[in-house]
Amino acid sequence: MRRFCSLIICAAMAVNIVGCTAHKTEPTDKELFVIGFSQVGSESDWRIANTQSMIDTFTEENGYELRVVNARQNQDNQFAAVRNFILEGVDFIVIAPTVEEGWDSVLAEVQAAGIPVIIMDRSVSVEDQSLYLSNVGSDFLNQGVMAVSWLDRQDADNGDGMVEILHLQGTYGATAQILRTQALEEAVEEHENWEFAAQLCGDYTEAKAYEVVSEYLQTNTDIDVLYSENDNMTFGAMRAMDEAGITYGEGGQVTIITFDATREALTYCMNGQIALCVECNPLIGPILEGLISTYRQGYDIQRQVFVPEFTYTSEDLTTSFIESRSY
Ligand code: AHR
Repeated sequence: MRRFCSLIICAAMAVNIVGCTAHKTEPTDKELFVIGFSQVGSESDWRIANTQSMIDTFTEENGYELRVVNARQNQDNQFAAVRNFILEGVDFIVIAPTVEEGWDSVLAEVQAAGIPVIIMDRSVSVEDQSLYLSNVGSDFLNQGVMAVSWLDRQDADNGDGMVEILHLQGTYGATAQILRTQALEEAVEEHENWEFAAQLCGDYTEAKAYEVVSEYLQTNTDIDVLYSENDNMTFGAMRAMDEAGITYGEGGQVTIITFDATREALTYCMNGQIALCVECNPLIGPILEGLISTYRQGYDIQRQVFVPEFTYTSEDLTTSFIESRSY
C-alpha cells in the first residue's frame, strides 16, 4: 500500500506542475480544463484506488488539469481546500465529502463564485439542492441490504439460535457509514434472533479497527458475525481476532462480511477466511468525466448516478479474476 501511495503522490505532483499553465474561467479548446478535487484522505485501499481513478481519467492528454487536495479525513481541511479552489478560479470542483452535514455555507460560496460542483462517492445533506449538479457514487443502502439478505440465508448462530453481530462502523456521519448501518439496524430489528454484540467505530482504518476490536475482545468473545464497513477495518479486526485466538471463516466461529471487495479482501474470501465481500466500486473517474463533459456541452446531467456493484463469495472467485481487477 505504501508503494501505491507514493505512486499517487508522484502522479498528483506531476499533475500539479502542469497546474502552472495560465488559465481562464472560460477555457478554449487548447487550454486545460482545471478541476479542483477535494478528496477525503488516504485512509483505505478503496480511497487510494479512487484517487488513482481520478488521476488516470483527468489527464493533460484528455484536456484536464486535476488539482487533488487530501483532507486527511478532516472536514475543515476540505472547507479550506474548496475555498482555495475558489481563489484559484478553477473551472470545476469535485468534492468527496468526509461527512454529510455542514456543507451549506461553503457550497453557497462556490455557487456565488459561479463554479459548478459535483459530489462524488459519499453525499452531502444541504437544504438548497441547486448547490451541486450531481452526486455520483455508490448505492450504500443497497450494499447494506445485499449484505443482510445474504446473512439471512446463512446459519451463522454457532448452534445456540442467537446471531451475535460485532458491527464495525466507518466514520460517523459519512454516507457509507449511515446507510450500511441503517441496513443492518433495520435487519436486526426484523430478526428476533439477531443482536448486536457491540457497535464500534473504526473510522475506516485498519489501525483504529485493530485497536477497538483488540480492546473489545479482552472482555467479550461471544461473536458469530463481523459486519465490517470496509476492508481495511476488516483486516485490523482479523489481526485482533488472530491474537485473541478467535477463529473465523470456513469451519471457524465468526462469519465475516466486509465492504469494498478490494483484491486483498477478495483473496481472503477465495481462501475461505472472509465469507462475503460487498463491492464498493472506486472507479468513478470515467463516469464523472462523462458527466462533466456532457455538462460542458450544455446538456443537463443526471442528479444521482450509482456505479455498478456486486457481491462475492468464495464460489465466485478465481485467482485470475482477482488479478484482473485494478483494485
Ligand atoms: O465512501 C466509501 C468508503 O470510504 C469505502 O468503503 C471505504 O473504504 C472508504 O474509506
